[in-house]
Amino acid sequence: MHILQHISRLLTKHFQIFMMEQTSVILFLVGGLVMAYYFMSTPEPKIEVPLKDSYDYIIVGAGSAGSVLASRLSEDKENSVLLVEAGPEETDSPLVKVPIKWFSLQRTYLDWGFKTVPQKYSSFGLKNKESAWTRGRMLGGCSSHNAMVYIRGSRHDYDEWAEQGCKGWSFKDVLPYFLKNEHITLDQLKNSAYHSTGGSWSVKTHEVTPMADIYMKAGEQMGYKLTDCNGVNQLGFCKTPANTKNGQRISTAIAYLRPAMDRPNLHVSVNSLASKVLIKNKKATGIELIKNTRKVTVKANKEVILSGGAINSPQLLMLSGVGPAAHLKELGIPVHADLPVGDNLQDHLMLVNEHSINVSYSVTPEKIKSFWTNFQFDWLGTGIKTSSLIEGSAFFDTNKDTKYSDIQFHMYSAIPSDELVKQNFYYDEETRDKMKAFHGDNKYGFAVLVILLRPLSKGTLRLKSTDPLDHPLIDANYLSNNEDMKTYLQGVRLYEQFMDTKAIREIGASRENNAFLPFCTEHKRWSDSFWECIIRKYALTIYHPTTTCRMGPDNDPTAVG
Ligand SMILES: Cc1cc2nc3c(=O)[nH]c(=O)nc-3n(C[C@H](O)[C@H](O)[C@H](O)COP(=O)(O)OP(=O)(O)OC[C@H]3O[C@@H](n4cnc5c(N)ncnc54)[C@H](O)[C@@H]3O)c2cc1C
Ligand SMILES: *[C@@H]1O[C@H](CO)[C@@H](O)[C@H](O)[C@H]1NC(C)=O
Repeated sequence: MHILQHISRLLTKHFQIFMMEQTSVILFLVGGLVMAYYFMSTPEPKIEVPLKDSYDYIIVGAGSAGSVLASRLSEDKENSVLLVEAGPEETDSPLVKVPIKWFSLQRTYLDWGFKTVPQKYSSFGLKNKESAWTRGRMLGGCSSHNAMVYIRGSRHDYDEWAEQGCKGWSFKDVLPYFLKNEHITLDQLKNSAYHSTGGSWSVKTHEVTPMADIYMKAGEQMGYKLTDCNGVNQLGFCKTPANTKNGQRISTAIAYLRPAMDRPNLHVSVNSLASKVLIKNKKATGIELIKNTRKVTVKANKEVILSGGAINSPQLLMLSGVGPAAHLKELGIPVHADLPVGDNLQDHLMLVNEHSINVSYSVTPEKIKSFWTNFQFDWLGTGIKTSSLIEGSAFFDTNKDTKYSDIQFHMYSAIPSDELVKQNFYYDEETRDKMKAFHGDNKYGFAVLVILLRPLSKGTLRLKSTDPLDHPLIDANYLSNNEDMKTYLQGVRLYEQFMDTKAIREIGASRENNAFLPFCTEHKRWSDSFWECIIRKYALTIYHPTTTCRMGPDNDPTAVG
């Protein structure tokens, strides 16, 4: 048998690549050679070097922030820098690089897999009333597994920080840095004063299906403007801006760290968990770390920088004796500074309103597996695999007297499978059983994520034990403040308006086919009490915990640094 026919048979049989003809095989082989050349010519990252006894700067956590810091600090050849990361190097893994896979990465070996403690005012329909908090544990941190949405913080937040005494943090002060790192590839925004080109952080949109235009049409029919969500005013609808380049994810590890890894003055140590910051006379002098089960001490000549994220940084501070004195004493940790570390915990909640539609516009598991989709992604860098599927976003100000938006939508152009719902949403068994039919089919649909911004409810983070490998106790304390529920109810009314537009009705959806319909039936459908019941059962984290080590001026008692 001709060798190509043989390969063709094998591929067809084992890899289910259908209609594989000889020409395709040749195409694959040539492509393989090109890819092999590409990968061989990409320099190997330098990550397993012997550690020195001391560095000028030690950065703990190679996530969104840490990777950029390491790259910037090591630009100066005079600085020696150590970047310490608990997780592995996964920068080139398809799990990380293929945007559509972002939602499958949760609760895998690349996730810290945190959970909150059982909640008192929310999460009643989640397993054990716990919210599953995913956090990336690899080079790039959460920027290696998040949804890649590029929407900056509200300009009013920056201005308020500056007014409260944080010099250098006003929007006017930070905008030049946003512009320095950005590379916008959307023609209509290239000349905007809020965008720029030439930076490492590539920005396009997540638009890959006809749903994006439908979301925008629905927004206009509600009476809102189509805006640039990073422009002069955030309020309105936008096609979601995203950090991808040539169809692949851009993480801070890819954009910043990788290009800096060859510098002799930067060492990156993976699989290394910082277990303590060494402190002498109120000054950080180094760290203790666990590297492949071995305990190592490294000194810092200048600074120790914590960038382990909103959960790990406060944990490490407390393990090192910086935190609420009473709590530390309870655990027998000597106190270096009595500060409100772990207080002020805030997070965004989302309610995932799922709907089926009667047109074939959205993404299904079958479409993702199809030959055409994979051909597009592998050979052209286009198609549905290049997107997180969050194709549309919107910001609303329900509390009209402020300049802030307090409700956000994300529109997601697929119905997640039962397996992903189990893994990521953590709905309890009873809920999942009732929703199985809905998630089980290979059907067309979308979800409107209604998100509560600016929550007034605040939670806490505390140590469970002095073991650095133990997860801390996270109490989100969601919806403990009733004002939050009032705002959220306004948010679901906006969602109802969205579902009642011509654009959405035309594709066979309305609030009447919401997947939550079989729940909270003891309440009058669509009443405030119905929605409150649904929200307290099913609203869950959209992965934005913050403020556990709040910055602020010296005279602010809630600030940590
Ligand atoms: C699933 C998901 C989706 C999201 N989607 C978006 C989005 O679309 N757009 C957006 O703007 N934001 C999104 N976010 C939020 C955003 O990703 C995070 O706010 C941001 O990445 C946090 O950056 P960080 O540097 O503070 O922490 P991280 O990126 O979490 O980095 C912390 C790093 O430190 C390491 N580390 C922690 N403790 C230690 C230790 N003791 N020793 C050594 N290493 C340690 C961790 O392993 C990790 O790599 C999302 C988050 C998640 C989880
Ligand atoms: C989808 O449903 C809407 C509303 O019932 C209807 O107007 C439309 O014709 C349907 N479209 C298709 C393709 O069936």
